[in-house]
Amino acid sequence: MDVFSAISQRSSVRAYKPIDVEEDKLMKILEAARLSPSASNRQDWKFIVVRIKETKKKLAKAAFGQSFIGEAPVVIVACGTEPKATMACGQPAYTVDVSIACSFMILQAYELGLGTCWIGAFKEDETKKILSIPEHVRVVAMIPMGYPDQPPSQKSRKSLDQIVCFEKYE
Ligand SMILES: Cc1cc2nc3c(=O)[nH]c(=O)nc-3n(C[C@H](O)[C@H](O)[C@H](O)COP(=O)(O)O)c2cc1C
Repeated sequence: MDVFSAISQRSSVRAYKPIDVEEDKLMKILEAARLSPSASNRQDWKFIVVRIKETKKKLAKAAFGQSFIGEAPVVIVACGTEPKATMACGQPAYTVDVSIACSFMILQAYELGLGTCWIGAFKEDETKKILSIPEHVRVVAMIPMGYPDQPPSQKSRKSLDQIVCFEKYE
């Protein structure tokens, strides 16, 4: 599968077949995160793989009851370990770095036939307690993952001319 096919065909998956994710597939997805670029190549991130049912149920509760998280065979919780580091542009590096790694994982998962859904709606404090995440570490995203048990959804996107301009902001 070429990159553009993955980008254009992927959609969020919120229902998963009760089938385990193979270890080699999971490791390839994590490898995609490891190989992702980061500001100054800092790689200040940690990806927690959660497969214990009880823990996933607790994460679903921390995510405002998004119960499909508890039904996914695997949930990856993506963290920034040095949240004080900022880039020269003023943006915190960790949100950008961890988001790139999550995007790469999501696309790699898609190529392997796995569905994912980026989860940004969760109570961070509760999530940190569940997973024993240290105080200074920030949780950027949860990614439930598994074989899709739903048809792909239609993409709804703004047109290019709504979001792109040339040479100056218009
Ligand atoms: C930063 C971010 C946070 C998101 N948070 C959630 C979430 O908490 N729950 C959920 O069901 N979907 C969540 N989504 C998925 C979006 O709703 C979805 O990507 C968007 O509607 C586009 O649909 P598509 O992924 O199927 O193309 C999130 C996506 C992003 C990028």
